[in-house]
Amino acid sequence: MPNIVVVGTQWGDEGKGKVVDVLTPIVNVVVRYQGGNNAGHTVVVGRDKYVFHSIPSGILHRGCTCIIGCGVVIDPGSLIEELESLVQRGVALDGNLFISKNAHLIMPYHPALDLASEAHLGKRRIGTTGRGVGPAYMDKAARVGIRMADLLDERLFREKLEYNVAQKNRILREIYDAQTFGVEAIFQQYRRYAGWLAPYITDTALLLHRLIEAGRSVLFEGAQATMLDIDHGTYPYVTSSSTTAGGAATGTGVPPTKINGVLGISKAYCTRVGGGPFMTEVYGEMADRLRARGNEYGAVTGRPRRCGWADAVALRYAARINGLDTIALTKLDVLDTCETLRICVGYRYGGEVLTDFPEEERIWHEAEPVYEELEGWQDEIGGATAFGDLPAAARTYLERLQELVGVAIGVVSVGPGREQSLTAGGSGAPTLGG
Ligand code: GDP
Ligand code: IMO
Ligand code: MG
Repeated sequence: MPNIVVVGTQWGDEGKGKVVDVLTPIVNVVVRYQGGNNAGHTVVVGRDKYVFHSIPSGILHRGCTCIIGCGVVIDPGSLIEELESLVQRGVALDGNLFISKNAHLIMPYHPALDLASEAHLGKRRIGTTGRGVGPAYMDKAARVGIRMADLLDERLFREKLEYNVAQKNRILREIYDAQTFGVEAIFQQYRRYAGWLAPYITDTALLLHRLIEAGRSVLFEGAQATMLDIDHGTYPYVTSSSTTAGGAATGTGVPPTKINGVLGISKAYCTRVGGGPFMTEVYGEMADRLRARGNEYGAVTGRPRRCGWADAVALRYAARINGLDTIALTKLDVLDTCETLRICVGYRYGGEVLTDFPEEERIWHEAEPVYEELEGWQDEIGGATAFGDLPAAARTYLERLQELVGVAIGVVSVGPGREQSLTAGGSGAPTLGG
């Protein structure tokens, strides 16, 4: 059985939650490998909408083992809220959720540092989600972070907390002129969280090893996306984790030799939320149309998402960095009303047209996109049940994108609903792999 990574290829919000939910019936395990509650993964089932932040998007399927891997940073208050809301909505958690002992905790001073740092950066701010994800990863890299396992060791937890609160208070006071924290209130609050979460905390790398040895197949659910990767994204306008496929190994403890394939999720156009370069961004009427039709508002912060045309240069880069076998193209229906469509095929910079994604920040900001224009289909496609149902212009758009990127589009999504998923092989259950 294959073990497959699901990874965002753009700036996030490509529809990873939907695709993971649709694929869950054909795997046994879904594991999140990085990020935190900066993620918002939406799953729509009939009239019900669920937005997952830290819990894997496979949780709605009974019998699926859901794991939060060591690469994730966890805000326990937010996670407990998410768990309680699922229980209230009747979703069974019959011992099928596991949290890594090695996952780092987001502490109350992390969101405070996140917001203070953003204010301090002024016009160079990242536009973070303000959830404290960056500062939590800073502590992890600085080797002063507090992990899930520490939550279960009262003495060690207090020791680490005391060090951190003293250090963070100095930073908050002296650099940011911001409010400070007291040890005792955090200690008591996190004791309560420990009681709540203890049954879920375990050695998830060992658990995954045993599941894979027993022939179970695993879906690795990425959060954020390639262009937000700490190494490969549009740094510094990125998140603080390894969002790309390589992160699936370090973020779970499953070795690369046990991973068999990578499925990239891409919107049929592009969006970005927060600051930073966005080569194919559009403004005015077209941006408003994409935002309205695609309901492009952040699932975490509610911020309007910036919108733009499909970018084949960036997508080819995502294909290379992640080693994509297949692409799932989502939100094709959002383009239904467009008279003409554009695909970016190069970046014009300094008298040259670049077709390989450049690594220089200046080029991202200053390059002009070179577009190819295609005819729109101007028809509603939300009811399509097979590739063959799509209008000829929609198929041409898919074929051209596929040709430019060099990766097969194996899945097309034409609406938020589970059933609005078409697979290249025809109708029936989607398959995984190249
Ligand atoms: P994620 O972070 O990658 O999981 O994506 P989000 O959940 O943040 O954003 C994707 C949004 O698009 C959600 O509101 C989904 O319900 C919705 N969506 C997913 N696929 C489609 C699609 O094919 N068509 C339309 N119209 N909406 C979709
Ligand atoms: P999902 O998993 C879209 C963006 C923020 C900001 C930058 C850094 O739902 O696709 P952070 O809070 O991580 O320090 O913010 O990254 N960002 C996302 N954008 N989708 C997400 O997650 C994102 N998670 C973070 O807007 O620009
Ligand atoms: Mg999202």
